[in-house]
Amino acid sequence: MNEESKKTAGKRSALFVEDGMVLGLGTGSTVRYAIEAIAGRIRDEGLDVVALPTSKPTEELASSLNIKLSSLIEYSDIDLCIDGADEVDKELNLIKGGGGAHTREKIIASASKEFIVVVDESKMVDRIGGFPVAVEFLGFGKRLVANQLRRIGGDPICRKNFKTDNGNLIFDTKFYIDDPLSLEDRINSIPGVLENGIFSRRRPERVIVGRGERYRVIEK
Ligand code: 5RP
Repeated sequence: MNEESKKTAGKRSALFVEDGMVLGLGTGSTVRYAIEAIAGRIRDEGLDVVALPTSKPTEELASSLNIKLSSLIEYSDIDLCIDGADEVDKELNLIKGGGGAHTREKIIASASKEFIVVVDESKMVDRIGGFPVAVEFLGFGKRLVANQLRRIGGDPICRKNFKTDNGNLIFDTKFYIDDPLSLEDRINSIPGVLENGIFSRRRPERVIVGRGERYRVIEK
């Protein structure tokens, strides 16, 4: 059911792609379906788009499907970014970073005119925070960052055998979250932290929620 729901949401998002667009491509098993569907539209309809991937796995996937790739050096304005999420609340605050790509994902989403998130129904929650917040940090400051995260109510656990595409480490950090925007900013103000997986400053314009073969679209 979940896999079918992911596919439904991912495929539906590809219909928002228009000829000539600069796209941001997120990371994960749901957005994979979007990327495959976009590749299908490029092949069948001759769409001319260029895509900026948010991770090495996405870059490899898109390139294997013959999607034209570029980078933020060439394009700083992105028309549409499509990405997945680990949790979404009713105000469309997100937790991302289950795949450890949230830093690049947030940069790309922030540079995008439109941001669409694709999820299956299990990701919809009343309050974000059931899923730990991924905090990417420089290994140099590990102990200090952990202490500061505890000081603001977090319970940091270093992700085992994992380095981000940027060569850094991640603390998966459980928080009780009643003010996502303020927590996003507080975590990012800790010296040594690069970025965290709360997306409250840059929330999506639309979330496509798949449930089996059906879907619903939630708009900001
Ligand atoms: C990667 C992410 C992913 O978008 C998030 O983990 C959802 O992935 P999936 O669609 O595989 O459940 O934030 O950093």
